[in-house]
Amino acid sequence: MTIVIFGATGDLTHRKLLPALYNNFRKEKLNEVSAIVGYARREWSNDDFRERARDGIENFSAAPLDEPVWKRFSQLLYYQQGNLDTPEDYRALAARLEDSDVPSSASAPRLYYLATSPQYYATASRNLGSAGMAEEERGPRRIVIEKPFGRDAASAAELDSEVHTSFGEHQIFRIDHYLGKETAQNILFMRFANTIFEPVWNRRYVSNVQITVAEDVDVGQRAGYYDQAGVLRDMFQNHLLQLFALTAMEPPASLNADDIRNEKVKVLSTVQPPVLSDTVRAQYEGYLNADGVTADSSTPTYAALRLYANTWRWQGVPFYLRSGKALGKKTSEITVQFQEPPGILFDLPSCDGYTANTISICIQPDEGIHAKYQVKVPGAGNASRTVDMAFAYKDGFPDAPLPDAYERLLLDAIEGDASLFARSDGIRASWNIIDPVIKAWESDPDAPAMEQYAPGSWGPTGAEELLSRYGHSWHPGCLQE
Ligand code: BG6
Repeated sequence: MTIVIFGATGDLTHRKLLPALYNNFRKEKLNEVSAIVGYARREWSNDDFRERARDGIENFSAAPLDEPVWKRFSQLLYYQQGNLDTPEDYRALAARLEDSDVPSSASAPRLYYLATSPQYYATASRNLGSAGMAEEERGPRRIVIEKPFGRDAASAAELDSEVHTSFGEHQIFRIDHYLGKETAQNILFMRFANTIFEPVWNRRYVSNVQITVAEDVDVGQRAGYYDQAGVLRDMFQNHLLQLFALTAMEPPASLNADDIRNEKVKVLSTVQPPVLSDTVRAQYEGYLNADGVTADSSTPTYAALRLYANTWRWQGVPFYLRSGKALGKKTSEITVQFQEPPGILFDLPSCDGYTANTISICIQPDEGIHAKYQVKVPGAGNASRTVDMAFAYKDGFPDAPLPDAYERLLLDAIEGDASLFARSDGIRASWNIIDPVIKAWESDPDAPAMEQYAPGSWGPTGAEELLSRYGHSWHPGCLQE
């Protein structure tokens, strides 16, 4: 296989792709790959590309650089100078891949990775198509496209049809790195490789579901991009809705890509955009002063939404989704809160730290599962206390550090397994939920006011009020004091 990375001089290639490829190589999982060709505008040589790759691995790889391994890995790296919008440059690339110093051949499978700025996704795929590089007569040709896939429903549909003019759906791998996280994949194992959870995973027992992706970092160096995107495009349309789909979907008929994605799309398609009063938007204090942010920006850095999956299993159960930057702690988690038991025997709400049962799936940083339940406080009387039953990946698998999401996703794309990638109809269904909220926030006079929150806090008060209005409250279950 030959891998071509478009946008080879950029940050994603430097911090994520090359370290992930290096680690896969180190684990001897890249045996079929004979060349990794970086493509970008800068006038670099193979050696420049190799040097930069080394720097990326030294600084961002989970495992330290091992000289003998690096020496072999670096021999796979080549560089081709070219513009993304110049068709002849793609023909030059095609020629270089076929008959020159690069150990690749037209009959070998190819993976094209678009690690470019999103404005080039359509151009690059069109140019690949017109250079004949998408045709599969001589071997598979796959294209990996990074997020964001469009900036609203219409532009996503347009991009989709552009990419489809050169590539068939089976060739397109739309990446969402959350799906490459081990613990996101564990949601299906937890639900469907056990007997005890699934019978209560429904409207009869569940009171509400809370999905939190909290980041402690602010927009940092990415303000220019972020100010155009905002939290709904950056996090909700993709990562949060994917976590939602994994939590809410029905069991797939098998683990193959189409069966899994059919179920995800099915549940996503039942979700209506939330009513405006069930949405909260906010900016952290100081956001407007960040370099690259327009002074009167109305881009939200935080959002909370209340959604429903209108299915037999979930009708009437609210799903609360929230995400924001510059919050107090980094945590990504899904907490399923169950209903309270009949209050006949114990006066539960007055008990120490009482919460109805919860199960929390901890995506990061402390990967694992927590379940909260009541036990009797020892001694006379009938006091109960909420305790925590915890499983931590780091204790259960001390010798198996969790691989980076990109390692897994790159391997899957190399092998042609699309189960952890978004399908065209899934992207459409997600935009159909999020786009109306974005549009309403931009122009509807009934849109909620933009709130402010202090960096390092848990976000705006409106997010607490959203839940308390319905008799609920946020229960982060993964953060241990
Ligand atoms: C990216 C977003 O997709 O995900 C970033 O563009 C965000 O804004 C990042 O910081 C979060 O990923 P992770 O893996 O650190 O939770």
